[in-house]
Amino acid sequence: MKLIRTKNYEEMSLRAAALLASQIIRKPDSVLGLATGATPLGMYGFLVDWYRKGVLDFRDVQTWNLDEYLGVQKVDSHSYYYFMHKNLFDGINIPEESIHMLDGMAEDIGHECAAYDEGIRKAGGIDLQVLGLGHDGHIAFNEPEKFFSAGTHCVAINKSTIRANARFFLKEEEVPKKAMTMGIGNIMAAGKILLLVCGADKAEILQRVLQGPVAPEIPGSILQFHQNVTVVATEDALREM
Ligand code: F6R
Repeated sequence: MKLIRTKNYEEMSLRAAALLASQIIRKPDSVLGLATGATPLGMYGFLVDWYRKGVLDFRDVQTWNLDEYLGVQKVDSHSYYYFMHKNLFDGINIPEESIHMLDGMAEDIGHECAAYDEGIRKAGGIDLQVLGLGHDGHIAFNEPEKFFSAGTHCVAINKSTIRANARFFLKEEEVPKKAMTMGIGNIMAAGKILLLVCGADKAEILQRVLQGPVAPEIPGSILQFHQNVTVVATEDALREM
């Protein structure tokens, strides 16, 4: 595991964007796994900027997002579909058909999840997966459990995660209680993983994820078993290590 320690959020975002950019430059038809949340926002900002300056070309890139709220329409400003378009896709030249996101309004959830897994397999697997980290150690919407999940599935979102995500809604009650998410198996199958973590409030969980026992109660701890993980984290997030 490679650890990149950065002074602040800006530097974390820049270092992460540089890693993503080098992936795209080396392999223009890269298959990227992407995350939502506050952490990767700065990184997406740099990528849009570099596209505008002609440094990056997303024409042949394919993306697969980690997760989506259940029962939320694409046009809803709280959907991850909306978030990704606003913060990345609308600012770059990726063709719409190369963007893959779970449909939170799918009638047959089981089919939607199985088709997503099959789609990733047909794409040749994910070359580089971007991850954020939840306060309870979740990655994507894989919450602490008694087992590690394999493929894309439906989950009940933890109370602590609902509370954390309430900052994107007017009221906590508005946060959806369920989501669809790639499984731990999907994430571990990616060629490379880029984990972004910032803020002192993540310091304790980051220490447990990186140095504690590998257990499904701390889902992110499984990353210790991946062959190619780069953690880009701010100084304050690393203060317990
Ligand atoms: C988002 C996702 C989540 C977030 C995590 C951290 O697609 O999968 O696991 O990465 O909840 O969120 P932030 O970055 O808002 O602290």
